[in-house]
Amino acid sequence: MNQGPSLWGWTFMAGAWGAILLLTVFCFRRVLLARNKQAESGGRAQWASRIGLILAMAGNAIGLGNFLRFPVKAAANGGGAFMIPYFCALIFLGIPLMWVEWSMGRHGGVHGHGSTPGMFALMWKHPLAKYLGALGIALPLTIVIYYNFIESWTLGFAWFSGTGRYFGLTTREAMGQFLRGFQGVEQNQFFASWLPVIFFLGITLSLNYYFLRRGIAKGIEVLARIGMPILFAFGVILVVRILTLGSPAEGTSSISTGLAYMWDPDFSQLGKATVWLAAAGQVFFTLSIGQGIINTYSSYLRERDDIVLNGLSTSMTNEFAEIILGGTIAIPVAVAFFGVAETRLIAHEGAFNLGFQSLPVIFQRIPLGQVFGAMWFLLLFIAGITSSVALTSPAVAFLEDEFHWPRARAVNAVFALLASCSVLVVAFFRFGFLDELDFWAGTFGLVVFAAFEIVIFSWIFGVGKGWEQLHRGADLRVPRGFKFILKYVTPVYMLVVLGAWTYQEAIGKLLLKGEDALRRPYLWGARAMFVGLIVVTAFMVRLAWHRRRSDPRR
Ligand code: ALA
Repeated sequence: MNQGPSLWGWTFMAGAWGAILLLTVFCFRRVLLARNKQAESGGRAQWASRIGLILAMAGNAIGLGNFLRFPVKAAANGGGAFMIPYFCALIFLGIPLMWVEWSMGRHGGVHGHGSTPGMFALMWKHPLAKYLGALGIALPLTIVIYYNFIESWTLGFAWFSGTGRYFGLTTREAMGQFLRGFQGVEQNQFFASWLPVIFFLGITLSLNYYFLRRGIAKGIEVLARIGMPILFAFGVILVVRILTLGSPAEGTSSISTGLAYMWDPDFSQLGKATVWLAAAGQVFFTLSIGQGIINTYSSYLRERDDIVLNGLSTSMTNEFAEIILGGTIAIPVAVAFFGVAETRLIAHEGAFNLGFQSLPVIFQRIPLGQVFGAMWFLLLFIAGITSSVALTSPAVAFLEDEFHWPRARAVNAVFALLASCSVLVVAFFRFGFLDELDFWAGTFGLVVFAAFEIVIFSWIFGVGKGWEQLHRGADLRVPRGFKFILKYVTPVYMLVVLGAWTYQEAIGKLLLKGEDALRRPYLWGARAMFVGLIVVTAFMVRLAWHRRRSDPRR
């Protein structure tokens, strides 16, 4: 069966690509035409250039979610039809919340707060506000503990691809063994100990440490300026290679069948609440919304720096990477080589097996596979590291701003914590420790946090004041309809998503329904770690505010 997409499939694909491309070009044209504002020197660190800021923000958003999570979610939830709830979530949740977080961040930064406890306290004069804001430090910290581990696999696999280490393992089963051996799930003929994975985790943590320690302009911005062009170049090369594969001799199907699988709409899926939830969850994860990290990056803006156009440009750059690059690489090539039925199975097994088990098998079947393999995993590593430095930033900013610690000391303290918690993630990975953290912090937690943000911004601070904040120094005016969206549509949409999610998934998850008895203690351990991080952060917030009260100069 080598059928390409139906008329509907092509329409969805062309429509999505066209809309993203047009909006991306529109944004960057406006950025280039916009006047250059004079840099005022403030007390806090600042981004060195506008393009550096947009690249850093795009790097923050573009991550493993774009290349691994998105294709799996789209393919499993109705293909082209998934783009309907996806675009609804993007317009009514993603982009409005992106603007909310940019506004909160810049407002906080101007008043010396680079993390959400201080930002919430500025917008809501209530003692509870700063404690709710503590979630904007604890969530990204929890996420980055396991995110760094996955990021280290991408580095490891870039090395294994370049050196041909796994070449010869031509079946998914053999590659699966290789992957599990590397991850430390089992000891086998490929890996007899955890040393290799610890080694790559060590390099990953050291690189993160290096860029964070160098600061905003010299560290994070430089990383984005180097990394993002490489990421896009690798992405485009891989897309062109895949689109020109046709019907590979070693495969069972074709790329056009893969595109059909990805884009042909299954409208029957639109009636399912889970599909709408999956789309909303993907939009949150991919745009880095509800994690406190866009807020922290925005706190390094100047008071009259544009938010509207920069926020939109960041979102569109992310969507380009997600829909055009991410949607064209992993799934279509899997279909071309393994066929539709097996790809469905692979997608069902999750993003890791697609990225680290199936694609390496494919790289062995195409000419210059070592090079393309290394390119794919380096692309993932760059996507990962530009997000992990962002995820670590709120904790560092909190210690710098609220305790007045020098950056070096703040980074050292955060990394000491990260390294200790990483040991648990590595040791207990095979018992589902990572997945448990990902559900509570990386899926559920961020929707809860974003719900707090929208209520504080639109209802407590007030959408009128918020609108004025958003447009201060703006290079583009947001259509007035968005004021209504910010006040009513986004909060209601959020509450419905949250309610349905709690009902459909969180309660069952909480009670560990159907869970293996062997894994239960570890899953509770993961929860304890997550709750522990929230409690410690809330305690630190209390300490910081207490100190400020007793020393009015602070
Ligand atoms: N937004 C980041 C990603 O997509 C966290 O991986």
